[in-house]
Amino acid sequence: MDTAYLNGRFLPLQEAQVPVLDRGFLFGDAVYEVIPVYDGRAYALADHIQRLGSSLRGIGLTDPLGPDGWTALVTDLIARNGNGDMAVYLQITRGAPPRRDHRPASATGPATVVGFCQTRPPVAASLLEQGVAAVVRDDTRWAHCDIKSTALLANVLLAGDAQANDANEAILVRDGRVTEGASSNVFAVSGSTLITPPLEAAILPGITRARVLALARRAAVTVAERPIPVAELHAADEIWLTSSTREIFPVTRLDGTPVGPGRPGPLWTRMRALLQADTHD
Ligand code: PDD
Repeated sequence: MDTAYLNGRFLPLQEAQVPVLDRGFLFGDAVYEVIPVYDGRAYALADHIQRLGSSLRGIGLTDPLGPDGWTALVTDLIARNGNGDMAVYLQITRGAPPRRDHRPASATGPATVVGFCQTRPPVAASLLEQGVAAVVRDDTRWAHCDIKSTALLANVLLAGDAQANDANEAILVRDGRVTEGASSNVFAVSGSTLITPPLEAAILPGITRARVLALARRAAVTVAERPIPVAELHAADEIWLTSSTREIFPVTRLDGTPVGPGRPGPLWTRMRALLQADTHD
């Protein structure tokens, strides 16, 4: 996982450096993508590249590579890093102009484009057998969480808060309704219905979320994309988290209380198997 990409060239990750005046560093003026790779094959690559395009448009940054360029870059990075199981990270900032100036128009030079890979550790068997704990927290993030921005300070602090409370994730609530996790989307099961918050600016349109929804519909599971009041989350039979790096995780304790019987539920077991089959297709 040692070969990175920086502005047109491949180099050892440790040598890939960005200037202090880079707007990604100064302002978090940047967007990113995380693409899971199974046995050398990028999963849902076209969907990730499409979302990257909308994140770039969302911050008014011209796409420096375009869909074909991103596809070629990701494919090359995977090959140069051994074609195994990994996650590819793409980070695009508004570049490094000669002066610190909040106004985006002051950045007239090229964007900074970074790509690197990390191992995607296999999901621990204990997590799958027992599930994980989550805590409910106020969603303290900005209003455009549909843009996959690297400005993740609120998410970072919420993740730290969850960890300090022996939880794997903070599930976020805005105006009494669940939005998403600090780095995941949220699903709840109530009876035989699978519920997840609708796509709106308050959440990231997760690629795993979309795949799970499609797989569930194909398997004739009743699905509702609608707001989840926090009281309904506390009463759910099952809760899951989805993300490109965590796939589909069962939450079995919420705010210290068991979710349903406190074990991963039957619908999660089914959906995990379907997602596993899809990722290894
Ligand atoms: N995060 N919501 C948030 C806030 C996220 O950060 C993520 C993923 C998701 C899930 O999206 P997807 O299924 O497309 O990975 C939802 C990535 C993995 C990260 O920041 O590392």
